[in-house]
Amino acid sequence: MPTDKAKESAAIAAVDEHINANVHIIGIGSGSTIVPAVKKIAEMVKKDKLDLICVPTSLQARELILSNGLKLGSLIEYQELDLAIDGADEVDEQFNCIKGGGGCQTQEKLVAICAKKFIVVADEKKWSKNLGDQWKKGIPIEVLPIAYKITKKEIEKQLGGEVVVREGTEKLGPVLTDQANFILDWKFDSSKVSNWSDINTKLKLIPGVVETGLFINMISKAYFGNSEGKVQLLV
Ligand code: 5RP
Repeated sequence: MPTDKAKESAAIAAVDEHINANVHIIGIGSGSTIVPAVKKIAEMVKKDKLDLICVPTSLQARELILSNGLKLGSLIEYQELDLAIDGADEVDEQFNCIKGGGGCQTQEKLVAICAKKFIVVADEKKWSKNLGDQWKKGIPIEVLPIAYKITKKEIEKQLGGEVVVREGTEKLGPVLTDQANFILDWKFDSSKVSNWSDINTKLKLIPGVVETGLFINMISKAYFGNSEGKVQLLV
C-alpha cells in the first residue's frame, strides 16, 4: 500500500512533539492515520528505551499496538493517561470533531476523556470551518441492537434528517461495533446547527443511544498534514 504523505506527516509531527521519557501511558486511536504514528512510537520506544504502555481504542488499535511490539494496557487498569493520539473524520475551529467513521467512537471517547491531552492527527482535508462541511456520511451514533429501529425513528422525529443503519460491504446486515452494538449514521442539514454541544446532548438523551461521534471541545491540539508533507496546527 503506498504511504499517504498527508496522514504520515501529521502523525509523525505529533509523535515527535508529544512522545518522550516523561510520557508513560498513552491512548492509541483507530483508523489509518494512527498507523504511521504507532510505527514511529515503536521506533522511539526501541531507540530511546522508553517505558510506555499503550491503551487501545478498538480491536484494530489493540492489534496495531501488539504487532508493533508495544506494551498493551486497558481502561480497566489505567484511567489516567498522559495523552491520547487519534484520527478524526472532520475537525472544526472550535476544537470539535466528528469521529466514528470506523465505528470506534465509544472507546475512542472513553480513552480521550481519560487523557490529559487529546491529540488529533489528520489529512488537511479533514479540517473545516463548520462541522459537517466535509464529512457527508452523517454523525456516527452507536446504539443498542434491540433499540436500533426505535432510536432511528426518535432521532428523525426529534432532530429531523435521515438516519441510515450502517451495513457492511458484504450485505450481511448491520455492522457490529467492538461492543457488539449497531451504528446509525445521522444525515441532516449541518449548516443549520449553531450549537453542537446541544445536538450532542439531545442525541445522548434518546433511549438506545450508547455514544455519539461528536467530540465537543475535547481536542488539545490537532495536526493536519498535506500531500507535500507540510503540517499545520490547530492549537
Ligand atoms: C474510527 C475513527 C477514525 O479515527 C476516523 O475515522 C479517522 O480515520 P482515518 O485516520 O482512517 O482517516 O474515528 O472510528
